[in-house]
Amino acid sequence: MGQRHAEVYSKHPRVTISGFFDIQNLLARKLASKYGTITYNEFTDIMEDSSIDAVSICTPNALHFDMLKFAIESEKNILVEKPIVTTSEHCNSLLKMMEKSTSKIMVGQTHRFYPCNIALKSLLDSNKVGIPKIVNTFDYIPGRNPGQIMPKWIKQDKISGGGVLMTDFIHTVDKIPWLMNSPIRKVHAHLISNFISKSNVEDAIVTSMELTNGVVATCVHGCPSPGAFDMSIKIIGTNGEINMRFADELEIIKRERTSIDYPHRGNPKEHTDNAFFSEINEFINSIIEKRKPKVTHFDGILAVQIILAIYRSFKEKRTITI
Ligand SMILES: NC(=O)c1ccc[n+]([C@@H]2O[C@H](COP(=O)([O-])OP(=O)(O)OC[C@H]3O[C@@H](n4cnc5c(N)ncnc54)[C@H](O)[C@@H]3O)[C@@H](O)[C@H]2O)c1
Repeated sequence: MGQRHAEVYSKHPRVTISGFFDIQNLLARKLASKYGTITYNEFTDIMEDSSIDAVSICTPNALHFDMLKFAIESEKNILVEKPIVTTSEHCNSLLKMMEKSTSKIMVGQTHRFYPCNIALKSLLDSNKVGIPKIVNTFDYIPGRNPGQIMPKWIKQDKISGGGVLMTDFIHTVDKIPWLMNSPIRKVHAHLISNFISKSNVEDAIVTSMELTNGVVATCVHGCPSPGAFDMSIKIIGTNGEINMRFADELEIIKRERTSIDYPHRGNPKEHTDNAFFSEINEFINSIIEKRKPKVTHFDGILAVQIILAIYRSFKEKRTITI
């Protein structure tokens, strides 16, 4: 992910890349040479450089907290990858740290920036299917996308903070409240382990969620799909239905079907590139314009708290109210 952030920053007219730090120095050196800049020996060296306005944290999940702490203490603006942190204790500490901080944090909840999701939200916000009542999502197995290589730490819960829930379903628990303009209130979940691969973390989830506005969501995530890569959502409202497949079909169904066009439809690579550019552009603009970014640390923390509630629901075999 660090490479992807670097590529976007390198093309952005308002950004100069100051340098890179990676525990594997060779990787940092490769990026520094590609973008004509330097490497840092320690993360703290970046913090001590007062010419740096902002940092991107793209390390494995459980390492985010310590890096955030340093960056907040040094009053840097921060784009941190999802999940912002992985434990309830770290959610609470981060909220406390941010109370007194001048740092701005944006969280890489990239799904809010996919053109297909932006088009879907616009249909919902303009009341095209009336009041939404039911949401149904189905998502692919991360790692089965052709060409995608998943890092090994993703199956080590001490580093990843969990399985497919923490690393991927966190996008869905951020996306649904954003689409529905309402927070998640209750969760009830079944997790499935050792279904796709042998590991000590879950690799699939079936869950139902209730939102404060009464919308009910059912989600199947991480299951094998014949097409390998599949991400789809169906929304049923009081005046029709919307179906969407990632970077592909978007249709409104009433008496008849109406297909909706949107930028980069039919081209998943262009779609993804565009989402990362929009996300990082939003981070930079929020700094320049001295305003809150579209995905704040509160949003990031809420998403983690929902994921932790889902783990509890499975463990305690009951519905959890957030
Ligand atoms: N927004 C998205 O759609 C999206 C997609 C994939 C990954 N991510 C997130 O991005 C983050 C990184 O994931 P990835 O797939 O790039 O992982 P990765 O393993 O490919 O890259 C992580 C990098 O961090 C480095 N690193 C490890 N420990 C370090 C330390 N202590 N100090 C400095 N560097 C260290 C590693 O050497 C490696 O180069 C994760 O939080 C992941 O959840 C987000």
